[in-house]
Amino acid sequence: MTAIYGRDAARVTAHHGPDHLVISEHPVLRRFWYAACFAADVTTEPVARTVLGAPLVLWRPAAAAPVSVALDRCAHRDAPLSKGWVANCHLVCAYHGWEWDAQGKTKRIPQFPDSPHPTKSGLTMVLSEERYGLIWVCLDDDPIAGIPPVPEYGAPGWRVVPEYEYAFACTAMHLLENNFDPGHVAFVHRGTFGNPERAELTDDVVTREPYGIQTRGQVPVESRPGETRATMRTTVSKVYAPFFGHIHITYPDGLQHVMVKAITPVDDDHCSLAQVVLRTDTEADRPAADILAFDVAVENEDRSMLEALPALFPLAPHLNAHARADRNSLAIRRLWTDLVTGRWLPSY
Ligand code: FES
Ligand code: FE
Repeated sequence: MTAIYGRDAARVTAHHGPDHLVISEHPVLRRFWYAACFAADVTTEPVARTVLGAPLVLWRPAAAAPVSVALDRCAHRDAPLSKGWVANCHLVCAYHGWEWDAQGKTKRIPQFPDSPHPTKSGLTMVLSEERYGLIWVCLDDDPIAGIPPVPEYGAPGWRVVPEYEYAFACTAMHLLENNFDPGHVAFVHRGTFGNPERAELTDDVVTREPYGIQTRGQVPVESRPGETRATMRTTVSKVYAPFFGHIHITYPDGLQHVMVKAITPVDDDHCSLAQVVLRTDTEADRPAADILAFDVAVENEDRSMLEALPALFPLAPHLNAHARADRNSLAIRRLWTDLVTGRWLPSY
């Protein structure tokens, strides 16, 4: 663990990688786990999601069964399987009624039920796992890393507030970088918890870690969910490469608030954020409804700015001006550069 950016952060310009980061140009990004949706949203009614440009169908073969995930395309005539249904624990295609089991093996072709099933009639299955109330998928059978750890989930003294899947018409990089950008809070979030009159910051301490980046810092805020009172967030934030954020906030009164930021690239210029909050207080102290309302307003503020930026994500430092408040951003851009150029792989 070494500090990589000191006072001269703004002068770091060496760059060996593409000028812009385009997700589909880097197959390495397929070898990570991403949250496709909340587990509670997957039932015996198939649902559709897109991850890294791949249309997926998610379903439970029975109410309490583990979730199955496959490419959302029938091998027969390309119908989206998410238009189908589940019957007798089989996924049924809505076009000609072919059926598959939870492992994607063909079980029935109703027009000639006694004839052998053609080769290639099975589903193309995708690795999936349920954790933290989310369904995680990996498009490659050989993931580089595991599902990022969230030690507070299920730990004594912590309650869970599942939020929503927030959709953004911007790259996953834009959204992740925004979540680690202390400088925008006073301005983008002036309608919720920021105050342009209190924009001054202290230096973040950024370290490169085996999993990605850790940064420690403080951000003055005007409020927190359900309360209006100026206070200070002391944060320890972690990026698990490429796009997962774990943001741990401590307030002066001892309250701890963790934001799980499971950012999923939908395609080259859309992403989704499955957010889960963990807190050390109780529902009686602060109702989940207050936390949800606060975060919906905050995400709307970020969305309104992020969707107004140019669609391509600038990776090379020379494409932007960088100041002392941007050391997190510079470190994260460097991390992605190292990842997509093959100079570094995370481990977690
Ligand atoms: Fe799916 Fe024909 S397209 S069964
Ligand atoms: Fe923000």
